[in-house]
Amino acid sequence: MPKRLPTAAVRAAVLAASLLATPAVAAEPVQARLSIGSEPSGPRIEPEVYGHFVEHLGQGVYGGLWVGPESPIPNTRGWRNDVLAALRHIGVPVMRWPGGCFADDYDWRDGIGPPAQRPRRLNKFWGMAPEPNRVGTHEFLDLVELLGSQAYIAGNMGSLPPRALSQWLEYMTSDSPHSSLAAERRRNGRAKPWRIPFVGIGNESWGCGGHMRPEYQADLHRQYVTWLHTPAKRVASGDGEGRDEVTEVLMARAGQHMDALTLHHYTVPAGWQKKGRATEFDERLWALALHDAVVGLEDHVARTIRIMDRHDPDRRVALYVDEWGMWHDPEPGAEARNAHLYQQGTMRDALVAALAFHVFHRHTARVKMANIAQMVNVLQALVLTDGPRLLLTPTYHVFDLYRPFRGALPLPVVLDTPEYREGEGPSAVTLPAVAASAARGEDGRVHIALVNLDPRRPAQVTLPATAPLRGRMLHAATLQAHNRHGETPAVTPRSLEAAPRDGRITLTLPPAAVAVMTAGP
Ligand code: AHR
Repeated sequence: MPKRLPTAAVRAAVLAASLLATPAVAAEPVQARLSIGSEPSGPRIEPEVYGHFVEHLGQGVYGGLWVGPESPIPNTRGWRNDVLAALRHIGVPVMRWPGGCFADDYDWRDGIGPPAQRPRRLNKFWGMAPEPNRVGTHEFLDLVELLGSQAYIAGNMGSLPPRALSQWLEYMTSDSPHSSLAAERRRNGRAKPWRIPFVGIGNESWGCGGHMRPEYQADLHRQYVTWLHTPAKRVASGDGEGRDEVTEVLMARAGQHMDALTLHHYTVPAGWQKKGRATEFDERLWALALHDAVVGLEDHVARTIRIMDRHDPDRRVALYVDEWGMWHDPEPGAEARNAHLYQQGTMRDALVAALAFHVFHRHTARVKMANIAQMVNVLQALVLTDGPRLLLTPTYHVFDLYRPFRGALPLPVVLDTPEYREGEGPSAVTLPAVAASAARGEDGRVHIALVNLDPRRPAQVTLPATAPLRGRMLHAATLQAHNRHGETPAVTPRSLEAAPRDGRITLTLPPAAVAVMTAGP
């Protein structure tokens, strides 16, 4: 995709215009009423819905997560301690690796054995950057164990034969005394087999994974899984462009041979040609981004599920939204320092993340995993690094706020909310001013997430309650506020509490805010 950056003058004008649309404007609050049902609306919200994606891309791995054991940056066997601590705090249920587009050009044999003897390759999809293969299977699976996470291995179906994927799995998981691959793994320092719960068969096979027709991909998928002999969930690569026929053909021709099908959905409010920077946007681009999270993602997921339901009424095959998030133009200078797809994150990204979670919570019967793209330094990252420095993005804080939803049972919500409207006439964007999601946690407590989408008006949300609500809220002085290296964070959560009166609670959210509250004494 061609990338054109606006000139400095255009950027300054856009920024000036966008700062007018800050939450600082005093305005009459919108009034919303919320009621929450007591019977679950679906099976539990799988913790893996709060999953991650780690690709060999830019500084996602090298520099971001991995600095090497010799680095002066404090690390554990090469993985930086500051990033590990941040990730452990939010918990990482699952990590997809090594791509993305990179996966279909990756030979696992390049990443095993003595590091000095590993081949050096060029990362063809991401700027021909040097790929030293310093991080390979052993290192990645060490990270999985360091984080108490689960591995989702993205296998190559685009440029290697089925035997390669089958042998990679045997190398990682076999305990047999008769397997040369298991013996090789032991010689390389790992006695015990690893547990690999998820294996992907190709990535975006309609695009960077081989530009295949879905009919051809369905046949290849069937062929590749034949040789896996694995208890891992076999994940077929699905649609990412809103092309229903991809889902249709894969489910019809290969549905019996998969345990999950993927969906990719990126939020690109200004369009792919000229995406614009993460931190420079006006109210129109605010509204379009939220519209994509509320309507676009919901529609993409719901349409895919409808097709899956026709072919698989018993819902044996899960849907994994294994790439999602906002895709902006990279920060200036990022590509020159091999930090491909390095972008900042603001309250806009935070709200998009929160609203995406609400979509996943509504479809728990089918959506069993989702992986934000990506974990560190790439696209809608949770953590950004700069040499030894680290910052947490607003998206990180949303993951943190929504932790109580992991493993919880979704509850039905009825929300009576006014509209938030941007623009006039046929091009107007209309959205609910307030969005909500609720769930009952494993401890029986009810958790409520509220989002005020309106960037100008506070929201007063009233709900029946006999016990106080306690939780945290994310809000910032401007929509464009973001955390910067070496500065006091501009976006961090703060506590929020409300007590019942006459059997009701009224919570006031500032404009453009996300709150997660728990009911209880
Ligand atoms: O996440 C970046 C890229 O987006 C992935 O490599 C690819 O699968 C998708 O197109």
